[in-house]
Amino acid sequence: MIQVADRASISVGSVRLDGRAFLAPMSGVTDVGFRRIARRFGASLVVSEMVACDDYVRGDAESRLRAEGAGVDPHVVQIAGCDARWMGEAARLAEASGAAIVDINMGCPAKRVVAGECGSALMREPAIAQELIRAVVDALPTTVPVTVKHRAGWNHDNRNAAEFACAMVEAGAQMITVHGRTRTQGFSGKSDPEVIRLVRDALPSHIPLVGNGDVIDVEGYLRLREQTGCDAVMIGRGALGNPWLFARLREVAAGRPDPGPPGLDERLAVFRRHVDLIETLKQGPRMLHEVRKSCAWYARGLYGCNALRLRVWEAPDIAAARALVEDYFAQLIERQRRLGLSPEGERGEMDGSFSGDEAA
Ligand SMILES: Cc1cc2nc3c(=O)[nH]c(=O)nc-3n(C[C@H](O)[C@H](O)[C@H](O)COP(=O)(O)O)c2cc1C
Repeated sequence: MIQVADRASISVGSVRLDGRAFLAPMSGVTDVGFRRIARRFGASLVVSEMVACDDYVRGDAESRLRAEGAGVDPHVVQIAGCDARWMGEAARLAEASGAAIVDINMGCPAKRVVAGECGSALMREPAIAQELIRAVVDALPTTVPVTVKHRAGWNHDNRNAAEFACAMVEAGAQMITVHGRTRTQGFSGKSDPEVIRLVRDALPSHIPLVGNGDVIDVEGYLRLREQTGCDAVMIGRGALGNPWLFARLREVAAGRPDPGPPGLDERLAVFRRHVDLIETLKQGPRMLHEVRKSCAWYARGLYGCNALRLRVWEAPDIAAARALVEDYFAQLIERQRRLGLSPEGERGEMDGSFSGDEAA
């Protein structure tokens, strides 16, 4: 077993976090319900979906919903934009909605985002990126730290993550997260731990560095910590329908044995809880879409999950989708009880395409 020296807590400015495994921001995924579940299972930091500053400031209802904390503590809002005034104003609104930390997205590779010179396009414009940080820092009380999430660089020949991270810290960022892929990679190829290591070496030691990319299990978490020296690890796709990963990491970090994956009963119980939260916290036609996604996540990797996913996509309403999942789990539990067969089956593909609305 790989070992990493661990103190449980980590500080971002004046905000103290109770562990080193974080939930990554994912548009179309990390809504309040998802964040509450991940936090309950032990993620020490959970970040909102990206909120476009201009929409947010103009009062767009979807952006306001994305920025809500509703019981998540600490509440972290991720903002994206390229205009200092909008960014400052959005940060003020986020703080008013209870944000304890404001994170700035400088990693989104989506065409429409980089076309507007936001997201990962800022990695080509460090001076502008610094201006944005300063505007956000100035807009917030000193008790609310500003953090930045970015990529390895724009493309293979321009992997400037280390200099870029230092420039962001110079402008006032108090924590950096690096996803070890370049913008042109999107989600293809692999996240490069070497880039993350270079950033750790370059940053002042009091600034926490969060490594991100391709961690889906306990071994991957420990490997990334050891290979890069990063202070914490942010997990995105590996947490879909798998909040237990955070509980397992917490146990291992405390020097206790890995409790392993959950049983079918527990998976079903958390699925029910997740759908309850969607029904309580969301409104409108998107609710069915959200429920369909969580049906697929909680069955991921189990026997017959692909067939279930197709059926759920045809379900006319939430009650029908729920009933399909209840029936599916009942059959799996029975199969396991009577025949002693493992519920493990097809592995869901680890890509962003089915899992959210926009891979940032
Ligand atoms: C569906 C989806 C949506 C995402 N949305 C965001 C986002 O809003 N903000 C952001 O900084 N990164 C976003 N990301 C990137 C993730 O935060 C993370 O950097 C990336 O998925 C790599 O980590 P992973 O391999 O653990 O998934 C998104 C990724 C996915 C798959």
